[in-house]
Amino acid sequence: MDDLTDRTGRRVTLCPVDDDNWRAVADIAPRDEQRTFVAALAARYLLLSMRGGVWTSLGVLADDTVVGHVMWAYDEEDGTHWVGGLIVDADEQGRGVGRQAMTALIRMLSKRPDCQEIRLSYHPHNTGAAKLYNSLGFTPTGAFEDDETVVGLAVRQA
Ligand SMILES: CC(C)(COP(=O)(O)OP(=O)(O)OC[C@H]1O[C@@H](n2cnc3c(N)ncnc32)[C@H](O)[C@@H]1OP(=O)(O)O)[C@@H](O)C(=O)NCCC(=O)NCCS
Repeated sequence: MDDLTDRTGRRVTLCPVDDDNWRAVADIAPRDEQRTFVAALAARYLLLSMRGGVWTSLGVLADDTVVGHVMWAYDEEDGTHWVGGLIVDADEQGRGVGRQAMTALIRMLSKRPDCQEIRLSYHPHNTGAAKLYNSLGFTPTGAFEDDETVVGLAVRQA
């Protein structure tokens, strides 16, 4: 599907991290005040993906420009899919990229035959993230991970 555009008309898509784009993905950085909620650079999440074999990092593109990072994982223990490490570059925030990136990822994961629920967690003070996830249909599971609120989205198979 290629109908996801931000508020400036750029097409928002997800891409694998490869030899050509990894530096741009690694350099994605939140605003300074958001560093209490997420890592200071997407490089941290990229390394986690490369080291652990659990998470898969993706770049977020607006047309051909890398503007963000997000990653996903499958938890074999409880059969849920997880999303983490969502960062839209500081200068690119507020244009609808985060919403469209999450929509693209939910669509992508919902095509997996084993995907019935998507979970993620956020810091309770991260009101921007809370509003975004709430508006996408995520609801609290009642669980907390490392002091973060865990929310879930039931997925209808695509
Ligand atoms: C959270 C984040 C990914 C949102 O990305 P974005 O591209 O700025 O978001 P969008 O422009 O798509 O906005 C989507 C929604 O998020 C919410 N939102 C985003 N920033 C917000 C802010 N500063 N204050 C309040 N709400 C905000 C709004 O509900 C907005 O709804 P709208 O589409 O009706 O305007 C981005 O702010 C970011 O990278 N933050 C730092 C990292 C982070 O906290 N990641 C989430 C970790 S769980």
